[in-house]
Amino acid sequence: MSVTIGIVGATGAVGQELIKLLLDRMFPANHIQLFASSRSAGKTISVGQHSWEVVEAVPEAFENIDLAIFSAGGSTSLALAKEAVARNCIVIDNSSAFRMDADVPLVVPEVNPDAVDNHKGIVANPNCSTAVALMGLYPLHKEFGLKRFFASTYQAVSGSGAAAMIELENQVKSWSEKKPLECNVYPHPIAFNLIPHVDTFNENGYTREELKMLNESSKIMNLPNLKASTTCVRVPVFRSHSIAINAEFEKPVDIEVARKSIEAFPGCELVDMPEKNLYPMPLDFSEKEKCGVGRLRKDLALDNGLSFWVVGDQLWKGAALNAIQIFELMQKKGLI
Ligand code: A2P
Repeated sequence: MSVTIGIVGATGAVGQELIKLLLDRMFPANHIQLFASSRSAGKTISVGQHSWEVVEAVPEAFENIDLAIFSAGGSTSLALAKEAVARNCIVIDNSSAFRMDADVPLVVPEVNPDAVDNHKGIVANPNCSTAVALMGLYPLHKEFGLKRFFASTYQAVSGSGAAAMIELENQVKSWSEKKPLECNVYPHPIAFNLIPHVDTFNENGYTREELKMLNESSKIMNLPNLKASTTCVRVPVFRSHSIAINAEFEKPVDIEVARKSIEAFPGCELVDMPEKNLYPMPLDFSEKEKCGVGRLRKDLALDNGLSFWVVGDQLWKGAALNAIQIFELMQKKGLI
């Protein structure tokens, strides 16, 4: 059966990657339909020799779509995902709107592929930092049994969308021309700066992004008693998130076993030769399917602890690629 895929948010940073990844996988261009807001309706998007007209995402637009991948923010997903499902369209949602709903599977295909079996129309794609962190955490959990972790993220501006990439570029130009830096997306300059503030603050002092890492990791790995404390930081990097993790496990950690479990895991690649200056970095892991894991060492402050560093293209593994892998998994399972 040939499937028609709708991309909602096709003009955005993740939408553009979805188009490229589908074409790279030889998905037929005439089975892709592009949706965005009324602002973009009628625009043409071209990739290679293919062109599509962007259509406004309204409920009726999903009549002939088999599967829609939403990357247009939580409010668009809340307004339209159930409308699409009511029209027999399966939704893979990149926003946080449904991730913690008990009825909605939250899926990373390398970790919990069977969770899709019970979907009721919507399958959620995890938060970008969570998906990247799990590429290191999950194989180690399988080996040693994860109890808790501490993490600090170094998140690229493309995680805030296309406008944030333009903001960083413009600020770098203004800086070099000694002009004032204009801030529209972030509350402070991001060029040559770090902003310890990703998403909105909760009453407990953590941001929503920081709590997503705990709640989503716990749901995806089915570890209801997992504990985690994270600090999420926006950094002046265009693409690929990096995460420093200190994890504590049930069993004693053996570094060689840890390395082997990372090497054997399909979602990641071990890059860990510090003596040769080799460790994962955002420039090396942009537009790469696998995430990089390195800097493995025994944690000096935790019992059975391991410190490590994970880097991954959050537009891919944290969004577009994981969504497409969910689609491919559903196809393999005969769910679509
Ligand atoms: P548009 O370009 O028409 O505003 P990014 O994450 O890069 O900021 O992109 C956000 C994406 O979400 C864009 O494609 C944007 O389309 C789309 N979008 C925003 N609001 C809506 C909406 N109400 N309906 C459909 N798409 C939307």
